Amino acid sequence: MKIKVADLEFEKLITAETIQQRIADLARHISEDYQDRNPIFLGILNGSFLFIADLIKHIDWPCEITFTKLASYYGGTASSGKIREDIDITVDLRDRHVIVVEDIVDTGNTLAYLVEKLYQRQPASITVCSLLLKPEAIVVPVEELHYVGFNIQNEFVLGYGLDYKEQGRNLNDLYRKV
Ligand code: XMP
Ligand code: MG
Repeated sequence: MKIKVADLEFEKLITAETIQQRIADLARHISEDYQDRNPIFLGILNGSFLFIADLIKHIDWPCEITFTKLASYYGGTASSGKIREDIDITVDLRDRHVIVVEDIVDTGNTLAYLVEKLYQRQPASITVCSLLLKPEAIVVPVEELHYVGFNIQNEFVLGYGLDYKEQGRNLNDLYRKV
């Protein structure tokens, strides 16, 4: 079944059920690796808001969560390459184990920019958990990317937090542009 969002058509790529099962796996791995390290989860708004919420529901020890807001797409279907910082990080990350939670890594530009900025705050460590990765689109590899939900092809996707022209973030399934 196809859906229309603004001027584009999309079809289902990954069902909500599959997404949720994979998130439970990721959370189990993170939980095992970080249980005794008092990590701080750093969600990248807007795209990761559903992912981080679902992910941390599977973590059964008390943990800390904060957010920052970056933008690189500005409403289209291709990364602009320029990163805009809309909301800065407000907590002290010095000596903390930071788990960055992203919706998708495309060229890697956003993540590389963020990771470099984070190191200036002198955290104990940085690791990245991204729901989606487009391996063929990577221009800047980021070695901190340790947890990946799904590798997808180099195509524009929407749903489960991701938007096209700010629409469709609420959809429970993930869709690809037809
Ligand atoms: P880069 O190229 O910097 O891009 O790795 C990462 C950011 O761009 C957004 N992005 C997408 N958003 N569908 C979207 O709705 C996509 O297919 C897509 N690919 C990249 C996203 O915000 C990500 O943080
Ligand atoms: Mg994003």
